[in-house]
Amino acid sequence: MEFTTLGRTGLRVSRMGLGCGGHSRLGLSFGRTDEEAADVVRAALDVGVNFIDTAENYRTETAVGLGIGGVPRDSVVISTKVAAADADGLVSAADYRSRVEGCLTRLGTDYIDVMNVHGVTPDEYDWARDELVPVLLRMREEGKVRSLGITEQFITDTSHVMLRRALAEDDLWDVVMVGYSVLNFSAERTVMPLVRERGCGTQLMFAVRRALSRPAALIELMENLVATGQVDSGSFDAAEPLKFMGVDMAGAAYRFARHESGMDVVLSGTSSLEHLKANAASICAGPLSSDIVERVRSIFARVDSASGN
Ligand SMILES: NC(=O)c1ccc[n+]([C@@H]2O[C@H](COP(=O)([O-])OP(=O)(O)OC[C@H]3O[C@@H](n4cnc5c(N)ncnc54)[C@H](OP(=O)(O)O)[C@@H]3O)[C@@H](O)[C@H]2O)c1
Repeated sequence: MEFTTLGRTGLRVSRMGLGCGGHSRLGLSFGRTDEEAADVVRAALDVGVNFIDTAENYRTETAVGLGIGGVPRDSVVISTKVAAADADGLVSAADYRSRVEGCLTRLGTDYIDVMNVHGVTPDEYDWARDELVPVLLRMREEGKVRSLGITEQFITDTSHVMLRRALAEDDLWDVVMVGYSVLNFSAERTVMPLVRERGCGTQLMFAVRRALSRPAALIELMENLVATGQVDSGSFDAAEPLKFMGVDMAGAAYRFARHESGMDVVLSGTSSLEHLKANAASICAGPLSSDIVERVRSIFARVDSASGN
């Protein structure tokens, strides 16, 4: 495994982070038990991953707690999240605090390395900054939270409206989580310059999502990108749009994200030990050939409306 420093947190983190959300949720989405899901966490530690991203609403924190139970606490970096709003509306400061305490309990730890406000929409940003950040700063003083993070709602905010504002206006965030992939690398132009100015650490999500792990979903997405004028129809093979990247589309997509984005941690979520090992190998493989990278860049240069979900 390769390691880097997570921006101004100073934490040493593996280039691959285990994502415990997404469609698989460590296998809990397919009926696995917490103990079985914890085996995915243990397997990640075995391949050298030390960065684990979970969230209150993934319901995978208990499995993460079980999975890290056998290793020294300071050998892993835990990122978790609580959203600024739920089905009842915006979460109050008091409720937010008790939810973060709930994360600590489920994870079986007395501190969280990166505590993120989860999936913040542009409309929720003021609330997150004015009402919830003070809670997290107090918890940081108490030693329960080590650094503050924010994650975007990439499925609906594919052009990073919230994150661009958060980084341009405020110097509160130690770590940001941003969507980036072969299909939409617009964060490079719009988010990364601000990240560098602030010295934030970065977590990359959506390197491989539905459209990059299921061929039918990719074809449907490409039709849509052509119809909306973001991709030229003659620039790719309609039957196998990313065939030129090789037979292992997911592996190639992870390599693109790892080497082209300049971000610290590439998150990879899975229910499969086979995928886990393959993804660790891809993230640690060298860059793709310049021919492949140039072709990707020319096909998707104008795209900022796709998440690949
Ligand atoms: N707003 C937010 O804060 C937010 C939003 C989304 C995600 N996240 C975080 O970011 C992490 C990464 O999210 P993501 O969107 O990139 O998705 P992901 O959770 O990494 O999911 C990737 C999907 O692709 C499949 N897959 C993985 N490796 C594969 C391979 N080698 N071949 C074929 N299929 C493969 C997995 O299914 P299998 O189980 O079959 O491997 C999985 O369902 C999440 O787990 C979560 O921790 C945060």
